[in-house]
Amino acid sequence: MAVLGSGYVGLTVAAGLASFGHRVTCTDVDVDRVDHLVAGDLRIVEAGLTELIEDVRSLGRLQFLTDNIEAARSAEFVFLCLPTPGRSDGTLDTSSTEAVVTQIGRHLAPGARIVIKSTVPVGTARRVAELLQRRDVAIVSNPEFLSEGTAVDNFLHPDRVVIGSDSVRAAMDVATLYGVGGVGECIVTDSQSAELIKFASNAYLATRVTFINSVAELCEATGANVRDVARGIGSDHRIGTAFLSPGPGWGGSCFPKDSAALVALADDVGVDATVVRSVIAANEWHSVRVADKIADALDGDLSGKTIAIWGLAFKAGTDDVRHSPALKIVERLRERGALFRAFDPGVSRPITGITQCTTLEETCRGADAILVTTEWEVFARSDLDALGSLMTRRIMVDARGAIDPGVALLAGFDYTGIGVGRDASDLEFTAMCLEQETRDPVVHATYPRHRDAADQSP
Ligand code: UGA
Repeated sequence: MAVLGSGYVGLTVAAGLASFGHRVTCTDVDVDRVDHLVAGDLRIVEAGLTELIEDVRSLGRLQFLTDNIEAARSAEFVFLCLPTPGRSDGTLDTSSTEAVVTQIGRHLAPGARIVIKSTVPVGTARRVAELLQRRDVAIVSNPEFLSEGTAVDNFLHPDRVVIGSDSVRAAMDVATLYGVGGVGECIVTDSQSAELIKFASNAYLATRVTFINSVAELCEATGANVRDVARGIGSDHRIGTAFLSPGPGWGGSCFPKDSAALVALADDVGVDATVVRSVIAANEWHSVRVADKIADALDGDLSGKTIAIWGLAFKAGTDDVRHSPALKIVERLRERGALFRAFDPGVSRPITGITQCTTLEETCRGADAILVTTEWEVFARSDLDALGSLMTRRIMVDARGAIDPGVALLAGFDYTGIGVGRDASDLEFTAMCLEQETRDPVVHATYPRHRDAADQSP
């Protein structure tokens, strides 16, 4: 089989299918990229992918080429994993997909199946069929649900596989390709439904994140604690706890693009998209809110102030900074005269306008405040007291709730979190619990942070 496109989706799909026992040829038009892949250098950070690719290549099941026609010519299944960038009006640009289909069309083997993995506008599978004009070649929509950082696991153990086609036979043929893996539910449907499932899934997840971010704001205003509120909401089995972690707003290559595309689609067909439209607007507000928190912590004057930015990636576990809330917030603070020293354990590529450091110490030297924008675990384990001693002032805004407020307080930081009222006595109480932990770990483990719980402690 052929996988056309060697981005993180194409590579994961190719390696995953090869690990199921299939022989896969994966292509990319970028010669330099293919040269690096042949040399074993993926040039992306994706947990377990390098190892999986090494394994399947050593078994002779995966090869890389630059020639789409050569790869597609003898393939029974041709997976399209090509970029579909968003346009400024929210619609997606499918020109790469169309160009490749035109390129390989007449070279495809009789009875081949084209499988569209990329996120494409509803109706694309049908349009590809018209473009192809080959009655013997079926088009199958099989959207990917890979999250950056866990893509390999998502592919090998998916919650569900969605397969849409006008040809039930072709859909079933694609379903059997996944048979070897630990597949959850397999949903076979028409191609429009399959295409829409992808947009609706991402827009719904984005909505959950925005919802909890709004609840976090409400918590700050009322003195509630969003961690407990999220746990309380999520323990209802109809709701669940996933995607209820508050933060600086969602980003990445998918949520922004797919929510905008859903709105564009709704507008195009005359359907009201108020819900998703307001989620997009609220998401902008949540990054403004974080910028305001740091300005407030620095008494409103950011001019010439140096801020240690902890995290540039749009989430932990990736090197991807596309639509990263961190960069959005940096831009807002820059407009107010702030300077930056940033560190992200996953991001080494230079970013214009940001001084990138290689350690947390470097970011803190002479800094006026720390702003935590990505939830890397290493941040939570840092020696805050030592880092604070390098700063001009011990101020921290933690937009991810990545740092224990009690630890920050004990290290002398003026700590502002997300979704917790800045009730100093609560923070002091947390610090007291931590001190107690060093004396009596059992009490702390049983009654982590609650005033009433501690009252009952021995
Ligand atoms: C997302 C979806 O989760 C995948 O299922 C989908 O296949 C993929 O898009 C895609 O369309 O290709 P991804 O963009 O890798 O995956 O990132 P997520 O883990 O979904 O996170 C998106 C954003 O939401 C990040 O900025 C993250 O920090 C934020 N987020 C997520 C929160 O702020 N809180 C949460 O509880 C969860």
